[in-house]
Amino acid sequence: MSDSRIIVALDYSSADSAEALYKQLDPNRCKLKVGKELFTSAGPGLVENMVGQGYDVFLDLKFHDIPNTVAKACKAAADLGVWLVNVHALGGRAMMQSAREALGSSTDRPKLIAVTILTSMKEADLNEIGLSVAVAEQVERLAKLSKDSGLDGVVCSPQEVTMLRQSIGNDFCLVTPGIRPAGSDTGDQKRIMTPAEAISAGSDYLVIGRPITQAKDPMAALTAIEQELTNL
Ligand code: C5P
Repeated sequence: MSDSRIIVALDYSSADSAEALYKQLDPNRCKLKVGKELFTSAGPGLVENMVGQGYDVFLDLKFHDIPNTVAKACKAAADLGVWLVNVHALGGRAMMQSAREALGSSTDRPKLIAVTILTSMKEADLNEIGLSVAVAEQVERLAKLSKDSGLDGVVCSPQEVTMLRQSIGNDFCLVTPGIRPAGSDTGDQKRIMTPAEAISAGSDYLVIGRPITQAKDPMAALTAIEQELTNL
């Protein structure tokens, strides 16, 4: 397993384009994230190929279903050899506990993290689905529930890292998207931090997509981010 804290988001629609990118990278210097679009179009074979090339893979499928179904999906992910898998904390304690139990206790089991509240949702969206609560409060509540249910961590915005470290402590894995190296195009991301800012705030792993995948030289973009982090 690489000790890199950089997870490259492969947001592609086909195995060919994903492969063309990750073959330019190095499994000792980054991990890879496969999301719903790529997994639905390319299937588990692509994930197995990545694992076979030595990459740690974050299978970002955000499972949310009855406990038995989610547990079996997590077990299927483990059988692919992935490093990290996730579920929606809104599935509740029983679902998260079943998912965690399905992954077993061996030291090389996949880590299991939860999505709390999607960053696309604002307080008005929560109210509309019957949750009369501020977003930050709900994020904190669901992160605590995830920890109580035996999960290893949560996906969160870099802006939530300081609050979650204070309320949950250091023994909890925080994985943050919304990262933009200084000077890079923000695209559709709004509440961003640089890699160095996010790690300094207490993030464990950075999910970075377009600043690496859309770069003319993806390996050079990765190297620049690594350099930013070594200077901390
Ligand atoms: O290209 P970019 O760096 O914005 O990609 C970020 C990745 O992290 C994408 O795969 C996106 O779906 C994911 N993500 C996010 N914000 C969240 C959760 C996941 O950007 N709150």
